[in-house]
Amino acid sequence: MNTRVLTRGALATVGVLLILGTCGGAFTAATAWAAAAQEIAATAPPGSKTIWTGVFSDAQALRGEKPYVEKCAYCHRADLSGGEIGRPLKGVPFLIRWEGKLGNLYFKIGNTMPQDKPATLEPGEVTDILGFILKMNGVPSGTAELTPDPSLETIFVTRDAPAP
Ligand code: HEC
Repeated sequence: MNTRVLTRGALATVGVLLILGTCGGAFTAATAWAAAAQEIAATAPPGSKTIWTGVFSDAQALRGEKPYVEKCAYCHRADLSGGEIGRPLKGVPFLIRWEGKLGNLYFKIGNTMPQDKPATLEPGEVTDILGFILKMNGVPSGTAELTPDPSLETIFVTRDAPAP
């Protein structure tokens, strides 16, 4: 089986290239990423970005629906309500469980799912599926897209939209 373990290091490489390409390497992403990986924030730090700020697009959620239906729905159900085997992937208890960095959910899916064929998803497929899961949780879409890089560590899952 062709497995592909997603590592924070691999994401950092992508991030460094992106950052070097855009702002001349002023920020050492690899160091920040390694430090971030040690810490699992339970709540979003004040002023940080959350999933409720339009972090995925409708087009991305639509792209994610196809692999979800093919590779996840037989355990988690088409409506994400969870089956006899898979747990629910929507609802407040699900969001509360994953409160913290969206990167945690990315690695959970990328490295352990589908449970009968773990680590077989492409990084971009994981972010598309994440977009679909967020959409199915009633999270509003926007114009941005989720990308498999350290930006996932700067977006926080919270159970609802922060009060304005
Ligand atoms: C063969 C059945 C099966 C398939 C297929 C499957 N899962 Fe799972 N999934 C499980 C089981 C069982 C658990 C609970 C155990 C665990 O967390 O590893 C789970 C847990 C999860 C969790 C954590 C839920 C929570 O709140 O703890 C996520 C997220 C998830 N799956 C996403 C997916 C995605 C996305 C796919 C498709 C790419 C997928 N799963 C495919 C069986 C499956």
